[in-house]
Amino acid sequence: MKKILIIHGPNLNQLGKREPDIYGTDTLDDINQQLQAIAQAESVSLTILQSNHEGDIVDAIHVHEQDHVGLVINPAAFTHTSIAIRDALAAASIPTVEVHLSNIYQREAFRHHSYISSVCVGQISGLGAYGYAAALRYLCARD
Ligand code: DQA
Repeated sequence: MKKILIIHGPNLNQLGKREPDIYGTDTLDDINQQLQAIAQAESVSLTILQSNHEGDIVDAIHVHEQDHVGLVINPAAFTHTSIAIRDALAAASIPTVEVHLSNIYQREAFRHHSYISSVCVGQISGLGAYGYAAALRYLCARD
């Protein structure tokens, strides 16, 4: 069975209670359950990780890129700061879709730049939890 990796970055474990006017009321568990339902229908298996630590995310990319056919990543605040995650993705051969719940281009100027997008197949920003679903469906259809 094809395996797809889902990585949620820092503070996303607080979804549901974290600035719900910006990020919505779905919890991370709600989002992961929606993704598992899609995965079941598409006959793929998911590895789902959340970390508040940059190095853990770099390690996860190293460990999982070989045996997964795609990656959906919301790097959260590391989007705007992390050359380390960018370099890990550049060196990995895993097709990656970058997802943001909010539209980062409608927000503060410091959120307008992503270090990650240039090493991704594409970016989805502003579609809420649906962005994860769309990214997963794309990766399922891609192979
Ligand atoms: C986010 C947008 C980032 O700017 C922010 O730091 C996050 C979440 C989003 O999903 O909209 O933590 O990636």
